[in-house]
Amino acid sequence: MPERKKRVFSGMQPSGEAHLGNYLGALRQWVEMQEDHDCVWCIVDDHAITAGGDPRELPKNVFDLAVSFLAVGLDPEKSIIFVQSDVHQHTELAWLFNAVTPVGELERMTQYKDKSQRFESVPAGIFNYPILQAADILLYLTDAVPVGEDQRQHLELTREIARKWNAAYGDLFPEPEAIIGKAGRILGLDGDAKMSKSLGNTVGVLAEPEEVWARVRTAVTDPQRVRRDDPGRPEVCNVYALHGFFTDEPTRDDIAARCRAGEIGCVDCKKILSAGISDAFAPFRERAEHFRNHPEEVRRILDDGAEKARAIASETMGRVRHLMGLEWREALDS
Ligand code: TRP
Repeated sequence: MPERKKRVFSGMQPSGEAHLGNYLGALRQWVEMQEDHDCVWCIVDDHAITAGGDPRELPKNVFDLAVSFLAVGLDPEKSIIFVQSDVHQHTELAWLFNAVTPVGELERMTQYKDKSQRFESVPAGIFNYPILQAADILLYLTDAVPVGEDQRQHLELTREIARKWNAAYGDLFPEPEAIIGKAGRILGLDGDAKMSKSLGNTVGVLAEPEEVWARVRTAVTDPQRVRRDDPGRPEVCNVYALHGFFTDEPTRDDIAARCRAGEIGCVDCKKILSAGISDAFAPFRERAEHFRNHPEEVRRILDDGAEKARAIASETMGRVRHLMGLEWREALDS
């Protein structure tokens, strides 16, 4: 008997087209994992509302992220791909997890501490956010979760919720392991913050070559390099770090040597990077074009994904409700 494939689950917030940071930090690994894992990929729109945002933009952002997912190679034949709000069991389980989640732990979350600074009156949604994330993950009895370093703490809390719930109600949930992306922290093109769409320091995975160049051209390099023939320091240069993902090793070594010798300027170095990114993303642009022209296909894929997700989710919820004493009719009858 072949061993059961490990179930992996991960989620991404819909803020439209995926960007370079999403690709290097997450989607690239997700695509690979499809080959030997039982994968569930979720567009987390119920999470997105905790940050406020314009409800008129959310549906399009969901659709655009779905197109990005499919364009980079997430494959509905291999994975379950769906939208969180299509499967109501996520929010239901999140509510039930309130029973075992320590407020003190929520207060310790660094992401909560950061985000709450931005509000005069802090919405409970950003406080409870990790409970919904735990529900996303545990609903599918997930074994492992590929996430960025910034989500490690949320995964720890998910494990604690699983342990506490199991201790209180019965052994149901596995303690999912975090698989932290090997790309490390991807700095934005501005060279000082994590890549994020809202900071405008990245480039979309579906951007045309001119757009890629327009973004890469502005990227910050070694700050000590002022003139073209100043010797540069590839080891501190963020553009050089990005070459690691898109440029072959001999070319990279050549760039590094010429940069140190002040023989290649930052503009030429960026042109090579920009071309590398554009080439790598060319198949994505082609697939995206197909899906944009066939939105009904995207809908069908997401409908189908939601149906498969719901089948697993409702099975888990049946057991959860039973163990938590919420199936009162059946209990009284027996
Ligand atoms: N909080 C995650 C992020 O901002 C997104 C997310 C929501 C998620 N639910 C998840 C990630 C479940 C992994 C598993 O990146």
